[in-house]
Amino acid sequence: MNENSNEEVLTDESKAFSYGLNIIEKSEPLVAEYIRGELGNQRNQLKLIASENYASPAVLLAMGNWFSDKYAEGTPGHRFYAGCEFVDKVETLASEHAKDLFDARYAYVQPHSGIDANLVAFWSLLAYRVEVPFLEAHGSKHVNDLTENDWAVLRKAFGDQRMIGMSLDAGGHLTHGFRPNISGKLFDQRSYGVDPETERVDYDAIRSLAQDFRPLIIVAGYSAHPRKIDFAKMREIADDVDAVLMVDMAHFAGLVAGKVFTGDFDPIPHAHIVTSTTHKSLRGPRGGIVLSNEEDLTEHIDKGCPMVLGGPLANVMAAKAVAFAEAKTESFRSYAQQVVDNANALAEGIKKRGGRLVTDGTDNHLVLVDVRSFGLTGRQAESALEESGVIVNRNSVPFDPNGAWYTSGIRLGTPALTSVGMNCDDMDHIAEIICSTLKATEPLTTSSGEMSKAKYDLSGSVQSENRTLCAELLGRNPLYPEVGLP
Ligand SMILES: Cc1ncc(COP(=O)(O)O)c(C=O)c1O
Repeated sequence: MNENSNEEVLTDESKAFSYGLNIIEKSEPLVAEYIRGELGNQRNQLKLIASENYASPAVLLAMGNWFSDKYAEGTPGHRFYAGCEFVDKVETLASEHAKDLFDARYAYVQPHSGIDANLVAFWSLLAYRVEVPFLEAHGSKHVNDLTENDWAVLRKAFGDQRMIGMSLDAGGHLTHGFRPNISGKLFDQRSYGVDPETERVDYDAIRSLAQDFRPLIIVAGYSAHPRKIDFAKMREIADDVDAVLMVDMAHFAGLVAGKVFTGDFDPIPHAHIVTSTTHKSLRGPRGGIVLSNEEDLTEHIDKGCPMVLGGPLANVMAAKAVAFAEAKTESFRSYAQQVVDNANALAEGIKKRGGRLVTDGTDNHLVLVDVRSFGLTGRQAESALEESGVIVNRNSVPFDPNGAWYTSGIRLGTPALTSVGMNCDDMDHIAEIICSTLKATEPLTTSSGEMSKAKYDLSGSVQSENRTLCAELLGRNPLYPEVGLP
């Protein structure tokens, strides 16, 4: 309280967000109401979604301003629009911070999301490995110079390229060449799984798949695999078959930035091209980046906009610059280490209470629980946990008999709760909340007498006890304490 005025002293963050909401209220009060509602909801949930985080107020505020009004197709200094002085500056700053943070020679900060970053990477690899040699062989400088016939041959060559990536049930991502996604329509894809015994990546199996299938691109990276990947080994496999190694570090970029994954487990020195989101463990705004150390690739990556992307979002590039600056600090390094320590503590807590974990543990930010060990499907576990106040997502486990809709697993991630300051002891409490909920959940039987994969009964007393415990944990570790909004 201010001694003289008896008024509460508001933090800058409180003022910024509450004044901002007052202004929004004047144009559309419902939007202001929904923004407040979202903060309220997030403050009341124990968020263990492995792909989510809480960006700092500085990152959030850097997104809401007049950079949003500017068109800036092209790259700094080479725009298709005039008036880009400060967009050039902010994009260059974001790119310099990214290069420094990841020790990469080149960083492209325009992709609007992880999917866009992957598309830019695919486009640049096709340009570099297919289009450029074809144009050279035909004595042409540009695709517009080709005859109709030669253009038809080149277009066919684009569609004939091959890729390998991790299978979806082993933890891979839809954008790594799976048929429903545009990447599966662009590339002929085969996937590699994990070893059925250890559930870990089997490098020998990947090597023999690569030798048989001879892909142009080998994608490494995952959305739901709880172990680190040896990128030095993956590069050896790629070199052996003259393939390009592309790493999608969307999930674990924060652990690379925070120097938890180093040496053979840091993708930057080993991959030809690295893509990422900026909003998961990296804790920035929603967006993507592409990094590379390959000189010959960079001019093609630079053409991501306008060849793949629409105009860049300068406001989001500004927020990326803020987030990368934050990620360069010692405190981010401690954060990244704590994310992994917390995942370990959560894994141990679940194991000691009878849960089976994919790969029996974790060395990154996520834990994959096989909820068949509690007699449930992933769908039942996800819903029962939500009733108890814990937000997770259901996920396939390797060789999952329950398919991608019901699944046999739940994926738990620690980046968000680590951002609010939770530690290993808190993780043990959370393991207790999770396991007691799952033990108190019984699948119902369907009208045909089979065990339902969706319906269940959760003991009301366990549910309400766990809701109270979640509220206590959140009370001790509040979200955005500097933002005093009700
Ligand atoms: C490995 C991986 N790549 C790409 C993406 C796509 O990111 P975005 O949602 O930003 O497009 C995700 C998101 O879940 C992911 O896990």
